[in-house]
Amino acid sequence: MEQKVDNGKLVAYSKVEMNEQIMPNDTNPMGNLMGGYLMRWMDIACAICAARHSGNQVVTASVDHIAFHEPINLGDVITLNAKITRAFNTSMEIYVEVSAAEITGANPRQSNQAYFTFVALDAKTKRPTPVPPVIPITSEEKKQYEDALRRRELRLLLAGKLKAKNAAELKSLFDSFD
Ligand SMILES: CC(C)(COP(=O)(O)OP(=O)(O)OC[C@H]1O[C@@H](n2cnc3c(N)ncnc32)[C@H](O)[C@@H]1OP(=O)(O)O)[C@@H](O)C(=O)NCCC(=O)NCCS
Repeated sequence: MEQKVDNGKLVAYSKVEMNEQIMPNDTNPMGNLMGGYLMRWMDIACAICAARHSGNQVVTASVDHIAFHEPINLGDVITLNAKITRAFNTSMEIYVEVSAAEITGANPRQSNQAYFTFVALDAKTKRPTPVPPVIPITSEEKKQYEDALRRRELRLLLAGKLKAKNAAELKSLFDSFD
């Protein structure tokens, strides 16, 4: 399949699937996966996705809310699926979903999900550098793409990098509740 279209890239171009088996060193005293290790793997899966899309080195700029719904046990296998939702100027939003199962495939369950934001860095200057746009194809990709604007405004607002009066997408969302 042709992956680059009109200077943009398809979501499929940079998708990442990663598997890890939970070993004794990955667990807490109850024998379940430690949350911090899971966050590390989520960060790695998303970083690979962002670097593939941008064609550059990337750094994590922020991570949205992460909740842990299900304990993951020693010996379980987790699957991380990361995909880009939207690229802005120098930053990209990556969505990651985590599921877990026994190594045989038994007892499959969704574990958690999160949105990560990465910034691409120029190889020489190590400063933020522009990234190609994302071309959403499926209805799910299009929805993620549209909603990404609101999520971006919210996280920049919370980070103190955007003034409330400039959060146009959020304002139109709240106005629609009137
Ligand atoms: C992320 C970083 C490169 C941003 O640099 P900066 O000088 O603030 O650059 P800018 O203000 O030009 O912002 C660059 C992009 O980062 C985005 N950004 C900055 N802070 C952000 C935040 N808290 N959340 C989401 N995006 C953010 C901006 O929106 C901008 O995106 P855009 O170009 O698509 O609009 C810089 O803060 C950094 O290097 N942080 C450390 C990264 C790191 O080490 N990560 C691993 C942590 S353990």
